[in-house]
Amino acid sequence: MGRGKLLSTQGGGKPSKGFRVSRSEYKAIAERMKTIQEQQMKIVRNMRRIRYKIAVISTKGGVGKSFVTASLAAALAAEGRRVGVFDADISGPSVHKMLGLNTGMGMPSQLDGTVKPVEVPPGIKVASIGLLLPMDEVPLIWRGAIKTSAIRELLAYVDWGELDYLLIDLPPGTGDEVLTITQIIPNITGFLVVTIPSEIAKSVVKKAVSFAKRIEAPVIGIVENMSYFRCSDGSIHYIFGRGAAEEIASQYGIELLGKIPIDPAIREANDRGKIFFLENPKSEASKEFLKIARRIIEIVEKLGPKPPAWGPQME
Ligand SMILES: Nc1ncnc2c1ncn2[C@@H]1O[C@H](COP(=O)(O)OP(=O)(O)OP(=O)(O)O)[C@@H](O)[C@H]1O
Ligand SMILES: [Mg+2]
Repeated sequence: MGRGKLLSTQGGGKPSKGFRVSRSEYKAIAERMKTIQEQQMKIVRNMRRIRYKIAVISTKGGVGKSFVTASLAAALAAEGRRVGVFDADISGPSVHKMLGLNTGMGMPSQLDGTVKPVEVPPGIKVASIGLLLPMDEVPLIWRGAIKTSAIRELLAYVDWGELDYLLIDLPPGTGDEVLTITQIIPNITGFLVVTIPSEIAKSVVKKAVSFAKRIEAPVIGIVENMSYFRCSDGSIHYIFGRGAAEEIASQYGIELLGKIPIDPAIREANDRGKIFFLENPKSEASKEFLKIARRIIEIVEKLGPKPPAWGPQME
């Protein structure tokens, strides 16, 4: 039987009836595999120039993951680190806007075929599909495999240069999509879990911990967002509840890195496309982000890059 006529066989080498692959289809599959392999090699090469890769995860949507990613990037830059932000949320890219960039502004291409991330004034490099879409209203209704290809392609062609930190804003959840994304990026240093102070926080952290185990990367810590609201008279209100993050932090032996209050100025800055951390450096939230960034630097830089962090030699 000639190759390309029938690719699959069932038990005992008997040909299966249904699954036929023509010679041209076989060639297309082989070419696709080759492209994926080449892109993956480019990713490994690019990622070797980045010391620490932190994936920001939450198992629920809308808890402020993108806001935490953007603010932490600004705080790490304020601490003198070279920072990049990669928006891996292909269906709902938003972190570029929280970093003051407009949808559709593009990423500059270079002569060698790579693209440059867009640089935001404090020195943060941003790459996102959101920069490539014509406008916010364009819905991306791609299926899982196409989203994964888009992420692989972006990561292969973005020339980050040398970075200390790359923050990866993951889509919500710990499903297949997030798993595939985290498998594309070699040697993730660790996960930062973003949660809110409600009962769901417990299951969020539990899922994130078991997810991190699958990727063989540690959970660096938890950031509790929307922790409390401080009224103008100074009184504090725990809108979503109180104490859940402390409880789970001690239960799982994971550090609670900080608590970010609910602040209408946060939503306002994000909606206006301004960097909250830079616009409100004296706010409680910004001071907390600076504290969180310093603690992350302490934890991660003491830990050092994971031994295989520079990946296999592929030059
Ligand atoms: N501490 C806060 N105080 C006030 N508003 C906040 C706070 N954190 C986030 N927000 C607002 O809540 C909304 C959701 O935040 P964000 O987009 O960062 O969440 P997300 O977890 O990334 O969502 P998604 O799951 O859709 O990616 C935004 O409008 C943001 O401005
Ligand atoms: Mg988001």
